[in-house]
Amino acid sequence: MHVLHVVGARPNFMKAAPVLRALGNLGQTKQTLVHTGQHYGANMSDVFFSQLEMPLPDVNLGVGSGSHAWQTAEIMSRFEPVLLERRPDFVLVYGDVNSTMAAALVAAKLGIRVGHVEAGLRSFDWTMPEEINRVVTDRLADLLFTPSEDADANLESEGVRPEKIHRVGNVMIDSLVRLLPVAAKVPKNGFPERYALVTLHRPSNVDGSESLKNILQSLVEITESLDVVFPVHPRTRQRIAEFGHHAEKLHLSEPLPYIEFLALESRAEVVITDSGGIQEETTFLGVPCLTIRSNTERPVTVSIGTNVIVGQDREKLRVELAKVVSGNRKTGTVPPLWDGHAGERIAATLGSIEH
Ligand code: UD1
Repeated sequence: MHVLHVVGARPNFMKAAPVLRALGNLGQTKQTLVHTGQHYGANMSDVFFSQLEMPLPDVNLGVGSGSHAWQTAEIMSRFEPVLLERRPDFVLVYGDVNSTMAAALVAAKLGIRVGHVEAGLRSFDWTMPEEINRVVTDRLADLLFTPSEDADANLESEGVRPEKIHRVGNVMIDSLVRLLPVAAKVPKNGFPERYALVTLHRPSNVDGSESLKNILQSLVEITESLDVVFPVHPRTRQRIAEFGHHAEKLHLSEPLPYIEFLALESRAEVVITDSGGIQEETTFLGVPCLTIRSNTERPVTVSIGTNVIVGQDREKLRVELAKVVSGNRKTGTVPPLWDGHAGERIAATLGSIEH
């Protein structure tokens, strides 16, 4: 069996690593790793490969940044010859970034079976580029590896045949479980004792001057009760500079490596984010999460986890933060199959399919 994995952006790396490892342990599987280059450089890409102990990509398409249409088209035209040459039995794509959808389209058109890891998540919000990527990728995929029951239900309601759906659990949690003991050894010095950890990069939050200013002001207000540690995504850093906004009272840093971020996340009083994956990681860690979005494609983090959706409502953020600071934090439980073994279940499923 020959499996070709496609990764491109930061959140893909921690999802692919456990599957690469599990397939490697299965033996007799040829694996090829293609990096589209959607994210690039030391702190957005390279450090993840070393910390997650992933093999270096066999091919890097070197696409880089651009508009959605340009980036998607560029990935497609650079990926097609690779696929024609390598002809794997399966192409595995991860998550919901542009690289995911672009690679799935190329593979499907060449008649190569596509497996989508993290299938079935829906925010039902078509203004999110990721929602378009999720729906298109799932429509094209032959194997849909889902993290939770709601994802199965979404796919079934869209008419996906149940035999294509494989509930394997949350593969990103596999990486977390494996590296949490390493993160626990990261020294605490240099960081405040009690802090809120912030990440922010959604276009809906950071691409508009007013919404970004509003959020930054809310974060500065929070510093009255907690320090705010904020590793800044390149998109957000660009916007802050472009709009001339200020955030002096916040502890700003460059994007962090996986292990250092995990250390900060696991020790935070609260995490304030618009990321998808961080809503899940905080639920696993039992750390309260306030999500600055009006919806989530990961509802299980709200229904049984520690996540609260606060939108861009400053008052709601204030109220929820006050609850955390006063010790009245939301507790939760870990969803089924978020147990560190999702990658093995994916490998076993692939191994059981005729190729
Ligand atoms: C992408 C994903 C998003 C994911 C996020 C995680 C899509 C549509 N979006 O958003 O779903 O949550 O990654 O980080 O696929 N840049 C750099 N260095 C990099 C990458 C980007 O400086 O390594 C800058 C570029 O100026 C670029 C901007 O950041 O224009 C945005 O990058 P892009 O990959 O387009 O989207 P993200 O916001 O990172």
